[in-house]
Amino acid sequence: QVWTFRELAGRCNAVSHWARAQGWGQGDVVALYLGSRPLLVALWMGLAQVGVEAALINYNLRCDSLLHCVGVSGAKGMVFGVELAEGDPGEDLGHAGGTMSPGWPGNASVSPRKSWRKFYRIAAFGFHSFGLRHDDIIYNSLPLYHSAGNIMGVGQCLLHGLTVVVKAKFSASSFWDDCVKYNCTVIQYIGEICRYLLAQPERPSEKSHCVRIAMGNGLRPAVWEEFTQRFRIRQVAEFYGATECNCSISNVDGKVGACGFHSQIFPSMYPIKLLRMNEDTMELVRDKNGLCIGCQPGEPGLLAGYIDQSDPLRRFDGYVDRRATNKKIVNDVFTLGDAAYLSGDVLVMDELGYMFFRDRSGDTYRWRGENVSTTEVEATLSGLLGHADVAVYGVLLPGVEGKAGMAAIAEGEGRFDCDAFLGAVRKALPSYAHPLFLRLMPKVDTTGTFKIQKTRLQREGYNPLHTADRIFFLNSHLGRYEAVTEELYRAITEGRLRL
Ligand SMILES: *[C@@H]1O[C@H](CO)[C@@H](O)[C@H](O)[C@H]1NC(C)=O
Ligand SMILES: *[C@@H]1O[C@H](CO)[C@@H](O)[C@H](O)[C@H]1NC(C)=O
Ligand SMILES: *[C@@H]1O[C@H](CO)[C@@H](O)[C@H](O)[C@H]1NC(C)=O
Ligand SMILES: *[C@@H]1O[C@H](CO)[C@@H](O)[C@H](O)[C@H]1NC(C)=O
Repeated sequence: QVWTFRELAGRCNAVSHWARAQGWGQGDVVALYLGSRPLLVALWMGLAQVGVEAALINYNLRCDSLLHCVGVSGAKGMVFGVELAEGDPGEDLGHAGGTMSPGWPGNASVSPRKSWRKFYRIAAFGFHSFGLRHDDIIYNSLPLYHSAGNIMGVGQCLLHGLTVVVKAKFSASSFWDDCVKYNCTVIQYIGEICRYLLAQPERPSEKSHCVRIAMGNGLRPAVWEEFTQRFRIRQVAEFYGATECNCSISNVDGKVGACGFHSQIFPSMYPIKLLRMNEDTMELVRDKNGLCIGCQPGEPGLLAGYIDQSDPLRRFDGYVDRRATNKKIVNDVFTLGDAAYLSGDVLVMDELGYMFFRDRSGDTYRWRGENVSTTEVEATLSGLLGHADVAVYGVLLPGVEGKAGMAAIAEGEGRFDCDAFLGAVRKALPSYAHPLFLRLMPKVDTTGTFKIQKTRLQREGYNPLHTADRIFFLNSHLGRYEAVTEELYRAITEGRLRL
């Protein structure tokens, strides 16, 4: 399908009428739980036209995590895609793709009101940072429940008149063919996408496309140049940011490996800072006056952005949950009484001001482009195991982005049944949250400071020689957990195994 702006506006209006007929109005929240397709955009815009906020729900969620998210959103109703009725959103969503193009300026009655600030800011940040053009065509295979797909991608169409090609689901094998078919000039990626593309056999379309810019986050320095050379990409537009953060940075000049830049000549133009921290506990280090300490070049630190509620570009609106908001704010940074937003991410800056991504602090880790909440997975696994003690953490695999999930489980009395466990896990969690490794222990010490204990487990990793505990690996090929032997351990660390 190809939608012009006029058609989009028509569908938005239809959604608005329909929403009113449901009795929804100003201030109500409606959850949208469906796969990526242009209709999703018409839905949230149509709802917004009558003052209804859309809660964009990750379509991979199910059971408790789905209930949780819909619950905290305060949604009065939900629109869901029939493709999710089977409860198996991990599978192919079909090809409900489409393009939206600026055939006609239309009458999109969306005005830059207060609530659109973030949307404007993020989309404009991408457009101006990377020199996008009004006649660019963006290939967007990222989920539309996420700001990367819905704002960085779709936002360029809505605000700057670009055409966006919405792909229902990322496919490594049809990626470049699609780019050729739709004459795309910009592609969006997350780091894993680049690796999946590099793992594909060569095909003519990977060189015959007219893609100029690859825009996204997490392209690993190790594959950066291989990616740009093999696929003939002139500009990598890597950026760092989160929907809620006000410390976004971008790589505007293609510096290999950098996720952004912070001027060292006019640092105050954009008041962000890397703060010294204790690398084990991830806590901020303070001087004798109780203030934070800025990092030296080359020294990893937590990225923070100053807060100024009076300045619309520097304010922090926080989360729906007040406690979550407070956890993100740090006071007494460089002067007593000041405040900053803590990104929770560790970056390193060089002498010139280029910034490089290091790590993610706190209790999430990233796997297959998704943030996995360790506490959520712990709660689910523990529930499946009759409330056994479970500690979940991410471990590094050589040559793979993100961290693989590992669950340390207190074994209890009877024999642990890996197959039954996996069957239950598959029903309860999206595939990216399935623990790749299990460590069966007589007892998981959950008293004391959880972080320190996890640090030890994390350090010991999945090497069977480091522990007397039994370690298992989820062999996706066989579809079952198998015991990690010395030989299997070597195969994993040498990258000889398909994950
Ligand atoms: C645009 O839409 C608004 C709201 O539906 C309507 O009031 C207005 O008349 C429309 N303008 C044009 C030029 O069609
Ligand atoms: C791509 O560009 C070619 C040449 O300009 C044009 O013939 C074709 O219709 C375009 N394809 C699409 C999907 O717009
Ligand atoms: C994961 O979290 C980071 C930092 O909060 C954010 O930038 C990123 O967009 C998130 N990714 C997903 C898929 O939610
Ligand atoms: C970040 O958000 C805080 C909180 O509102 C704000 O005071 C600060 O100015 C923002 N920083 C930047 C760099 O925008």
